[in-house]
Amino acid sequence: MHAEHHPQKLVEVRGLGKMFTLHNQGGIRLPVLRAMDFDATRGECLVLSGPSGTGKSTLLRCLYGNYLATEGSIRLRDTSAEGEPWVELTHAPEQRVLKLRRDVIGYVSQFLRAIPRVGALDVVADPLQQRGASHEEARARAAELLARLNLPRRLWDLPPATFSGGEQQRVNIARGLIGGHPILLLDEPTASLDADNRAVVVELIREALAEGRALIGIFHDEAVRDAVATRLLPLQPASALA
Ligand SMILES: Nc1ncnc2c1ncn2[C@@H]1O[C@H](COP(=O)(O)OP(=O)(O)OP(=O)(O)O)[C@@H](O)[C@H]1O
Ligand SMILES: [Mg+2]
Repeated sequence: MHAEHHPQKLVEVRGLGKMFTLHNQGGIRLPVLRAMDFDATRGECLVLSGPSGTGKSTLLRCLYGNYLATEGSIRLRDTSAEGEPWVELTHAPEQRVLKLRRDVIGYVSQFLRAIPRVGALDVVADPLQQRGASHEEARARAAELLARLNLPRRLWDLPPATFSGGEQQRVNIARGLIGGHPILLLDEPTASLDADNRAVVVELIREALAEGRALIGIFHDEAVRDAVATRLLPLQPASALA
């Protein structure tokens, strides 16, 4: 066995491009991402920076397999797989993408997609249960996270659909963190939070990094960004994408 001298690479992006074609607008082509190259290793928090509209959320969606890249390669290390650990996301069949989302790559979208009639505690517990934890174990871990994020206990059994923006965002963050996915994508996870809860999220992010997870995120709050970023990844405005 070799000692690990370098942190393990979990994400490798090469020549990534994304162009939207607006079919109901006469096929107008909108270039957003072009020739992006970057890696993310364990313990790194890569922060996407750049003005509004430069494609930060688009990049996260490409990395999650929500948007298909127009060109280039996105390779993810599947630490749960036997054999060849690297998966080419841009060519992965749907089933493989779903398995990556269960075991390898988590995504905290800007807004919670509420599941009707499911209470907050179960919404949070679900990704851990999908990874094989028992119902009790998953709910216990969910309770820990919701308590740390100061979500009032009276809300735990209620569906989050009617929660405030900040309450929904905390449910969303807990749901994103609970699965222990080695790669985690965060789209402005603190935008609707007050200072105390922002500080909790910073702590949770630092713990995730210390566990050796790789984070790629968007943080508009400068203080949060400075507290978590290990590296900035600037995105170029489309006008520079000649
Ligand atoms: N599904 C889509 N179809 C067409 N255009 C899209 C689509 N998604 C994003 N875009 C366009 O891509 C560009 C980048 O959008 P994106 O949401 O990635 O920006 P962003 O950097 O996250 O901005 P913000 O900081 O405001 O969240 C925008 O011009 C947007 O209109
Ligand atoms: Mg965005």
